[in-house]
Amino acid sequence: MKGLGLFSYNSLASTIKTVISKPESVRYNHDFSLPEYGENMTSLKEAAGKSGIYIGTVPDDSNFSKVLPSEFNSATAGNAMKWGKLLVDKKIGEYDFTTADRITDYVVNQGCRMRGHVLVWGRTPNGGYPAELDGIIKKSATPKEDIRTIMKDHINVMLSHFKGRVTNWDVVNEPMQVFGPKFANYTFYNILGTDYIKDAFSYAREADSDVKLYLNEQFFDYKDKRARNFLTLVKEMVTEGIPIYGIGLQHHIMYNEQSIEDFDWFLGQVAEMGLKVELTELDIRKPVFKKSRNPELSQAEAYYKIAKSCVQSGICEGITIWGIDDAHNWYDFTPPFNGKTKGENAPLLFDRNLNKKPAYYGFRQAFLEN
Ligand code: XIL
Repeated sequence: MKGLGLFSYNSLASTIKTVISKPESVRYNHDFSLPEYGENMTSLKEAAGKSGIYIGTVPDDSNFSKVLPSEFNSATAGNAMKWGKLLVDKKIGEYDFTTADRITDYVVNQGCRMRGHVLVWGRTPNGGYPAELDGIIKKSATPKEDIRTIMKDHINVMLSHFKGRVTNWDVVNEPMQVFGPKFANYTFYNILGTDYIKDAFSYAREADSDVKLYLNEQFFDYKDKRARNFLTLVKEMVTEGIPIYGIGLQHHIMYNEQSIEDFDWFLGQVAEMGLKVELTELDIRKPVFKKSRNPELSQAEAYYKIAKSCVQSGICEGITIWGIDDAHNWYDFTPPFNGKTKGENAPLLFDRNLNKKPAYYGFRQAFLEN
């Protein structure tokens, strides 16, 4: 996975350290490095399949054929389906689907489910959306109509191109401020308010009546004002009959573990609204546990606990790990986690040589116990 410069958590890194002041986990209740965990040969997808949960990954060119078919039954195309990444010369309306199609066809031919990521994402110009859009809207005499048309056209193109191959879509990604409690002031939001989110879902449903539609977000804390504001919007969407099927929770663990109690509370809120949930981008940086006696085992315990909560929630349809092995993880290329910490992020289930880590066994154990 190459760093595409879409993100910089640099300026915000110090903020989050003060915002999130929970003590770091230093304990673990299992030793997932014990041989007994390795003796069981059940794959991730078989173990989770008993609970009706798909296990996904982000196929990486160099290794996906080695692991994907045996362990995973779902995939997300990383950056390849992002709006800005699909355009020829960054021009709105001109698409090059070569990479996205290659990944999708490989995945579908393996009998795996394909998640679509993502239709509308206002945060990253030329990544999540075409930068050209900002200029067009600024000059427009009818910005509301124009931004709706551009968004609708894109959604139509995507859903017709991937019809029958992609079954689940992240319709809107990261509508909230990264660390603040409000909706982020992306161009879409500035022109349409939260209606841009609702409209995107309606357009997607009009374009394809079968796909499952998700609102995807990253939470550092599942019970704070930010999470509650998000849930308020979702509730509004449900009440208004907006065709939302589920909530996508990225669940990147970058700095501190989220409280499991808060996570369970959040899952309960989603369940009450009659919606499903997926963990769409799970990964857990090892340095989160730097105070642990054994960071690797603490990481494994964290994977175990999260998977356990998902199973127990009864509304979880899938868990996607954001990558396969530690040699290909996005933190190694993303400030402020790259550079010095390169090689140490080690957030995934397989090590740099594609060996199963304690994290693999911990994650799987949650399903085996069900
Ligand atoms: C990341 C990719 O993994 C990186 O390769 C890229 O440089 C930036 O984007 N939230 C999301 C994902 O929704 O699309 C992001 O993926 C990670 C954060």
